[in-house]
Amino acid sequence: MTPTTRNRVAVLHGVNFDILERRDPELYGGFSLSELEARIATWARERGLEPLFFQTNHEGEFVEYLHRLPDLADAALINAGAWTHYSRAIADALAVAKLPAVEVHLSDVENRDDWRRDSVFDGLVLAKISGKGDQGYREALDRLACELDVGAR
Ligand code: DQA
Repeated sequence: MTPTTRNRVAVLHGVNFDILERRDPELYGGFSLSELEARIATWARERGLEPLFFQTNHEGEFVEYLHRLPDLADAALINAGAWTHYSRAIADALAVAKLPAVEVHLSDVENRDDWRRDSVFDGLVLAKISGKGDQGYREALDRLACELDVGAR
């Protein structure tokens, strides 16, 4: 892989993902964030992508990470949790980052509470994948590998 290859994918998790294993297993799978990140790392490398991981429960820290994102990564995979549905600040910061991004949700946000159907990332992301559990991340990585033209599959 040449040093100029654009293959770094930042995987961002928002609020309440540090306790993922304590959340409803019917909705979220019962695994921990470290387990999920290990799976994502394997799937990313299989596709020639280099993952880096970030999680915070603090909205301002999430925004500041997005500010730094263009220096750190070439694309982003984002599950912002509940912030997805109301944080215009996070959407504004992602718009500034100008990186190809895919939004992922473990649960089927289209078929839960009405308010979970709204996403501040509408129009900012290449795709929104929800309701497929951890497999949604695999699909998102496929989409980003295609977008970055990285093809070590
Ligand atoms: C979630 C869906 C959100 O509505 C919820 O607030 C979460 C997790 C998901 O992965 O299914 O925290 O983003």
